[in-house]
Amino acid sequence: MSNANLLSIKSLSVSFGGLKALSNVNLELNENEVVGLIGPNGAGKTTFFNALSGLTEVQSGTLSINGKSHKWPKPHQLIDLGISRTLQGVGLFPELTVLENVMIGDNKSSKSGLISGALGLSLKDEKKLRQRALTALERVYASGIADQRADSLPYPVTKRVAIARALVSEPKILLLDEPAGGLGAQDIEWMNSLIHNLATQCSVILVEHHMDVVMSVCDRLYVLNFGEVISSGDVENVRRDPAVVEAYLGVNN
Ligand SMILES: Nc1ncnc2c1ncn2[C@@H]1O[C@H](COP(=O)(O)OP(=O)(O)OP(=O)(O)O)[C@@H](O)[C@H]1O
Ligand SMILES: [Mg+2]
Repeated sequence: MSNANLLSIKSLSVSFGGLKALSNVNLELNENEVVGLIGPNGAGKTTFFNALSGLTEVQSGTLSINGKSHKWPKPHQLIDLGISRTLQGVGLFPELTVLENVMIGDNKSSKSGLISGALGLSLKDEKKLRQRALTALERVYASGIADQRADSLPYPVTKRVAIARALVSEPKILLLDEPAGGLGAQDIEWMNSLIHNLATQCSVILVEHHMDVVMSVCDRLYVLNFGEVISSGDVENVRRDPAVVEAYLGVNN
């Protein structure tokens, strides 16, 4: 099993009523790899993350991690599987501090999750969690703002804090949903190097519309269109694939 993919998803299908949001999607992710999941609006990218994180019902498909089969997880099982995600929006609690928002990312110790879990920890566990949250903030270069309220932060900084919240559980598989969405050119550059750095410690599936980010940080790509993978492989080949140019890149270029 030593050469098994870190994550292997086969024939994943998700339907919403009559709409096939995902049809027989296959995706593999290796250690320390950044894989891009791209495609036009409504292609099914967030649905893929929702399926993998237990937020949407899976119609069919298999999931294995390090060669071991797993049932599709419920949200509270994600941390134990080594999976963590950011949301397509930012989703911070505005009235909490940055550090508290990051600590909430580790809700393993609570059944009800979120704040009650963080507050219900023993003093010793809370100290450990606080330390991990500070480490996560360092990884996104935001340790200096730990005590600021989330609603006092500029938008680009909230995007970094949202990533720190996903890192606090020390995931092996990190799902990033449009981390560069809404950022200006300079912050996008910055996000590029952050994602590069993250990949030294975990594997990343990146959903992103900014093609410069995708081209700069991804090792391989999967392109979704109307819920189907229409192309996959290394970045240059996918970029030149006529099906991709027509379905996706063409509309931007
Ligand atoms: N909970 C839901 N109920 C019904 N339809 C849904 C639901 N979630 C998503 N859809 C539909 O499934 C399709 C895929 O949506 P999804 O949000 O996964 O797209 P996306 O690729 O993330 O798009 P974007 O780039 O705009 O974020 C769309 O047609 C969407 O309207
Ligand atoms: Mg989406």
